[in-house]
Amino acid sequence: MRPDSPVKVGILISGRGSNMQSLVAAAREANAGYEVALVASDKPEAAGLAWAQEHGIATFALSPKGIGKPAYEAAINQALSEAGVEVIALAGYMRLLSGDFVARWRGRILNIHPSLLPLYKGLNTHARAIAAGDTKAGCSVHIVTEELDDGEVLGQAEVPIHPGDDATALAARVLVEEHRLYPQVLTEFVRR
Ligand code: GRF
Repeated sequence: MRPDSPVKVGILISGRGSNMQSLVAAAREANAGYEVALVASDKPEAAGLAWAQEHGIATFALSPKGIGKPAYEAAINQALSEAGVEVIALAGYMRLLSGDFVARWRGRILNIHPSLLPLYKGLNTHARAIAAGDTKAGCSVHIVTEELDDGEVLGQAEVPIHPGDDATALAARVLVEEHRLYPQVLTEFVRR
């Protein structure tokens, strides 16, 4: 990509958007290599959208309910393209992207997942790690492919699982590492 001007990133969220906030904060520091051109959501009521608007970031919101996935994704794709987005970062985006969408953006969609992939794809990662008796957990940033939580892992961070941890406690510990890992990996990705 272009090392001389910031790569335009679009962030897709469905909820509170704490990872989105960490990506925005890092983008505003020198030499991040990227800028956040759009925050988009399938949930118009997502808390992260309001935060992005308050911080002067362009937003786009559309629910797929009633219009169907193809029309919904076409609209998201148009909004991303009009914003000049070159790389998409999924940050708590709770919807599966279609094969067509992934193909259109092949190799340019990243996701953060709260497990040490390839362990615990899908939901309830922390409860599953605790139930399995694991002594460590963590998070992974990976390239998005057609397969759920698959694709090349670009970076991981580990945390210990302590005796007595529940999923809430473990999620909070992992989230601290998510906020550190995602901006770091995204910067490395746009510079490679
Ligand atoms: C994070 O734990 C992320 O790893 C997962 O969903 C959660 C989103 O949290 N994909 P937030 O919206 O970024 O606060």
